Amino acid sequence: MAISQIISLFLLHLLLPLASTSLSQSSHQLICEVGTGNGGSIGGTSPLPASLSKLLIKGGTVVNAHRQERADVYVEDGIIVAVKPNIKVGDEVTVLDATGRYVMPGGIDPHTHLDAEFMGTVAVDDFFSGQAAALAGGTTMHIDFVHPVNGSLMSGFEAYEKKASKSCMDYGFHMVIRHWDESVSKEMEIMVKEKGINSFKFFMAYKGTFMVDDAVLLRGMKRCKSLGALAMVHAENGDAVFEGQKRMIERGITGPEGHALSRPPMLEAEATGRAIRLASFVNTPLYVVHVMSIDAMEEIAKARKTGQKVIGEPVVSGLVLDDSKLWDPDFITAAKYVMSPPIRESGHNKALQAALSTGVLQLVGTDHCTFNSSQKAFGIDDFRKIPNGVNGIEERMHLVWDTMESGQISVTDFVRITSTECARIFNIYPRKGAILVGSDADIIIFNPNSSFEINPRSHHSRTNTNVYEGRKGKGKVEVTISRGRIVWKDDELKVAPGSGKYIPMPPFGFLFDGIEKIDAKLVSSFKAPVPRFKSDV
Ligand code: URP
Ligand code: ZN
Ligand code: ZN
Repeated sequence: MAISQIISLFLLHLLLPLASTSLSQSSHQLICEVGTGNGGSIGGTSPLPASLSKLLIKGGTVVNAHRQERADVYVEDGIIVAVKPNIKVGDEVTVLDATGRYVMPGGIDPHTHLDAEFMGTVAVDDFFSGQAAALAGGTTMHIDFVHPVNGSLMSGFEAYEKKASKSCMDYGFHMVIRHWDESVSKEMEIMVKEKGINSFKFFMAYKGTFMVDDAVLLRGMKRCKSLGALAMVHAENGDAVFEGQKRMIERGITGPEGHALSRPPMLEAEATGRAIRLASFVNTPLYVVHVMSIDAMEEIAKARKTGQKVIGEPVVSGLVLDDSKLWDPDFITAAKYVMSPPIRESGHNKALQAALSTGVLQLVGTDHCTFNSSQKAFGIDDFRKIPNGVNGIEERMHLVWDTMESGQISVTDFVRITSTECARIFNIYPRKGAILVGSDADIIIFNPNSSFEINPRSHHSRTNTNVYEGRKGKGKVEVTISRGRIVWKDDELKVAPGSGKYIPMPPFGFLFDGIEKIDAKLVSSFKAPVPRFKSDV
C-alpha cells in the first residue's frame, strides 16, 4: 500500500468518532475530496460542496446485464437520475470523463467473512479494511455471514451491527443456523420480517463446531420456505471429512497437502447432491456456496436440468487457482491456500469457468476470509489447525474479467455474474446491480485497455499474504463510486468509516415464483388418501 494511502486510511480511523457523529446529523458532513492531486489528503468534516453531490459520467459505454449502450450517467445525492446520451450540466457538477471506458454497476460480492471469529482466531479484515479493499477493486456491496451468539440469532445480529458500524460501503447479511429449537425458528421470522435478512446458511461440514445434521437442515429448509428466505449450504460431508483427516494424520501427513487429501471432491459432491435432494423434497430454492469441483457442479447441473431452483456460486479461488501450491515445501506458502472446500487439481477451475459462462453456475463470490501468516502457522504441525480461508474481495472483479472476458463471456455477462445476478437472487434489484434511473449510484469506470497487477505490498487488505500474488492481467477499475461518492480514483482510496449503509433484503425473491404451484401439483398427484370402506376381518 502506498504511504499516502496508509495515511489516508489512518486519518480516517482517527476521524471515526467525528464521522459517525456528523453522519448521524447529516449525510453531507464528512467528505473525502477527490481528484485534488494533493497526495491523498482527506477533506475532513467541512460541508459537502454541491459539486460532489452531483456527478456526471460522460462519454462512456454503459453496461447493464441486459444491454450496453453509449450514454452519460447523471447522479444526484447518491442516486442515478438520468442515463442518456449528451447530458448537459452546469459548472457545479463534477464531471468524470469515461471515454473509451465501460461504465458498469459496482460489483456485489455475495460471500464474505469480515471480522469473523473462526477456528479459534479472528479474520484480519474487518468491515473497514475489507470494504476499503473491495472498493479499490470495484466492489461496492457485499453480503456477510452473521453467526448466532450463544445460540441467539438476535444477539448475533446485534454483534454484527456493531462490527459493521465502521463500514465504508453498503452491505447486507446472511444468517448462519447452527442448531435447532423453537427459539431459532421464531428468531428466523424476526430476522426476515424485521431485520432484512432473506437467506440462512447451513454448514454441512466443520464437525463439532458449525456442522448441522440432516434433521436440522430439513427443518431449516422448511422454515426458510415458509418465510420466503433462501437456504444456503456449505456442502461437504463433515463426518467423512473428519474421518479423512484422521486417516491423513495416522499416515503422518500433517502438512497443508493433507487438507486437500482429506476432503476430496466426492465428499463435496455427496453433500451437494444430498442438499439438492432435501431441497427438492421440501420444494424450496437452494443456494450452494463456494462450488469448488466438477463433481459438485455436475450435481447442480443435473438438478437444474430437471427444473429445480438451485443456484451455484463458484468463488474466484476455485475459478483461477489450482491445488499445486498446497504441496509447496514452504509451510507458509502452502498454508495460505488452505480453504474449504479445498482448491482443486487443475482442470476443475476451467470446468467451473465453463459452467459459469454457460449459466450452469450463476454468480461469483470470494469467500474472502483472511488470515495472516502468523495465524496460518497455528497449524504448522497439524493441517487441521490452519485457519481456513483466502482473500479475494479486492481481486474478484479484475480476475473474473481477465479470466472470462477473453472470449468466454460478453461484457454484459461480466456485469451479470459479478453484480446483477446477486442483486436479483437476494431481491435488491434494481436498487443494486444496475445502472438505471432510480438505482443507487454504485458505479465503476473500467478501462479494458489498461492492466492490473496483484501484489500483497500494495493491496488494501490487512493480510500480509495474497493467494493471487504476481498475477497480471488486462483491464483496470479506474474509478469506484459508492452511492454517489468517488471513493477510488487515480489509485487513491478516499473512504470514510461509518459511511456504508445496511441494505435490508426482502423475502420472496424471484426464486420463490411458482413454488406453491409445484406444491399443489405434487399434492394433486398423490391420489391419496384412498377412500376405503372397512371390510369385516
Ligand atoms: O475456508 C473457508 N471457506 N473459510 C471461510 C468459512 C467457510 O467455510 O465459508
Ligand atoms: Zn463455507
Ligand atoms: Zn464462506
